[in-house]
Amino acid sequence: MDRRKFIKAVGFAAGATLLSGMGITEATELLNDKTNKKMKIVVLTGSPRRNGNTNYLAGQFIKGAEEAGHEVYRFDCAQRKVSPCIACNRCGMNGPCVFRDDFEELRPHLVAADMVVFATPMYYFGFSSQLKAVIDRFYALNGQIKGRMKQAALLMAYADTAPEEAEPMLLHYRTLLRYLGWKDCGTIVAAGMWPEGAVNDTKYSRMAYESGRRL
Ligand SMILES: Cc1cc2nc3c(=O)[nH]c(=O)nc-3n(C[C@H](O)[C@H](O)[C@H](O)COP(=O)(O)O)c2cc1C
Repeated sequence: MDRRKFIKAVGFAAGATLLSGMGITEATELLNDKTNKKMKIVVLTGSPRRNGNTNYLAGQFIKGAEEAGHEVYRFDCAQRKVSPCIACNRCGMNGPCVFRDDFEELRPHLVAADMVVFATPMYYFGFSSQLKAVIDRFYALNGQIKGRMKQAALLMAYADTAPEEAEPMLLHYRTLLRYLGWKDCGTIVAAGMWPEGAVNDTKYSRMAYESGRRL
């Protein structure tokens, strides 16, 4: 899809908390417009609430992406056993991890992915610890995923409504992508979401579906 279609798809209302960083890159346009490539997409969810807001956003995104013909592998970090990195450096940033846990299942999907989507609640201005533990385990894959052409997106919900409260997470996300050399496809940041189900039937869930559908 091209940049104009994407922006239209997600229906960027001015002032909405669908924040900056949006915009399909030139490389993405080539991938999707010129080759119509079927993408392998990994969706990492970080909420322990099975019926929570970010799981709903992730589900809507996945529905759209699968309808568009893409292959999606979903990894619910909070439902899996993934030990935090212990900085033993036995992997040498590019090798087997000392832990033989559920990250082993995710590993080949991350390496092969054309796109990685992070779906997480804001916890104290950052990713949930469940998702962060998985991101830290990227360390053992660093040599295989850094500098490899991947697209990425962020789906995030938080209870507050002040846009500046979302800035630390967006900065973290963008800095992570810059380090990895991945391309940002966009961020859907749902403000004012506290109870489970708050995001259902909102513009954010429609944006999530449309952004997957129009990939
Ligand atoms: C441990 C914890 C920390 C949170 N920290 C924040 C925060 O810093 N700012 C905020 O606006 N909301 C915060 N929230 C609220 C959640 O971000 C919000 O309820 C979100 O919609 C939860 O997403 P989920 O339904 O996908 O779990 C926090 C909630 C929990 C449980």
